[in-house]
Amino acid sequence: MLWLGCVGPVAAQTSLQPEGWDRGLKLPEAVDTNPDPHVVEVNLEARVAPVEIAPGQSVEAWTYNGGVPGPLIRLRVGDRLIVHFLNKLPKPTTVHWHGVRLPIQMDGVPGISQPEVKPGESFTYDFTVPDAGLFWYHPHVMSAAQVGFGLYGALLVEDPNEHVGVPDELVLVLSDMSVGTDGVMESPEAGGSIANMFGREGTNVLVNGRKHSKLVVRSGAPQRWRIVNVAKSRFFNLDLGGVPFRQIGGDGGLQEYAVDHDTFVLAPGERADVIVTPRAEPGAEMTLRSVLYYRGFGTIEGRFPFDDLFTIAMADLPPNADVRAPDTHRSIEPLPVAGATAIDLEFTLVQGAEDPEYRITGARFTRDKAVTAQLGETQLWTVTNKSAWSHPFHLHGYFFQVLDEHGVPVKPMAWKDTVNIPFEQTVRFIVRFDDRGGSWMFHCHILDHAEAGLMGMVDVGIAHASHEKH
Ligand code: C2O
Ligand code: CU
Repeated sequence: MLWLGCVGPVAAQTSLQPEGWDRGLKLPEAVDTNPDPHVVEVNLEARVAPVEIAPGQSVEAWTYNGGVPGPLIRLRVGDRLIVHFLNKLPKPTTVHWHGVRLPIQMDGVPGISQPEVKPGESFTYDFTVPDAGLFWYHPHVMSAAQVGFGLYGALLVEDPNEHVGVPDELVLVLSDMSVGTDGVMESPEAGGSIANMFGREGTNVLVNGRKHSKLVVRSGAPQRWRIVNVAKSRFFNLDLGGVPFRQIGGDGGLQEYAVDHDTFVLAPGERADVIVTPRAEPGAEMTLRSVLYYRGFGTIEGRFPFDDLFTIAMADLPPNADVRAPDTHRSIEPLPVAGATAIDLEFTLVQGAEDPEYRITGARFTRDKAVTAQLGETQLWTVTNKSAWSHPFHLHGYFFQVLDEHGVPVKPMAWKDTVNIPFEQTVRFIVRFDDRGGSWMFHCHILDHAEAGLMGMVDVGIAHASHEKH
């Protein structure tokens, strides 16, 4: 069997990059303590620790295993993941596995999936990863504060049968952090309720926890970037000076077919799987930037037009000779719109008793206002954003397919768990709930917005006394 793996594009399995090309951006990986090849067992400890975000610039951050981001957890599709989590923070926390289709008991939402993990306590997460793709983990307690302080990490589920043919890969965790000149993190409440309404963006833009790193690459050699935006409010709008981003996938693994983009927007919570092939003379440099993105009233005015993320320097090597653009295909079955139950939600911003508050369909969230679904039910959700700011909507535990204005899945088809709902616009998507019952959260992934009211839940397979009356 083993030699079969060598049939086909053998060359594609060998790195085309110079030795140490990704040193500036390589993520530390979690150590698997389990000898079973299909079980990944890791220790994860949340603790306050100093991290260096730039040479000579250290910050006391909230970390997983002492780093920002936390360790990359790498598995293969179908593997079982066991995480021995220990909370050494001064506050309670949990770990939510963003995008993973797991049982509700493992979803990390306090009061629903599990109790909060108090300081000094531990909790064991144990589930199987059914889908290939890039996922991520973060707390679900005081999320805006805890994510802003540095608690996030990437979870990469690989599919050995996925033949993308690009041997050189990077996992890129995009984030930001607000640090004062004294090296102390800014209060997550700075700016009060007005800042909640906008969503606070950190002042230091980081890639894999660093400012201004450098890759040293071979011209013409393709690189596969698995990207996640974990920032609590910031949208990234990537620009590599005209080098196209060939997108092959998103939240839920590969998409139907590849598409080239000149610039590329990633809302908080979203992932992208892209291939970039920088070409230039040896010694030349280019910079990956994030260009300002208009996500609603007052979000770009008076700001610097871009942030530099990292530099790509061309090694003194002959360029890669193979100029074919790698291509991928995946067939995705459209979920049937006919017969789907209609669910309508409206996001508004109203003046509450004291502060402006976000509302979902006119109400503050309460348990008895939950959306309900039967096990196995297909639903067509129409989410209308009537506020002046865009909201990246995230549903826990399930993937959906975004529909266009004719009710047909957006092309190329893709599985998503997070989709931006631009200000004053409507987005529709179709979702099929399976046999994993429970109360699954949905919320804006601008975490200040979630805490200011943009969160709710869908009760899957749970009888509701109040609903049975109708
Ligand atoms: Cu990524 Cu409820 O979160
Ligand atoms: Cu929002």
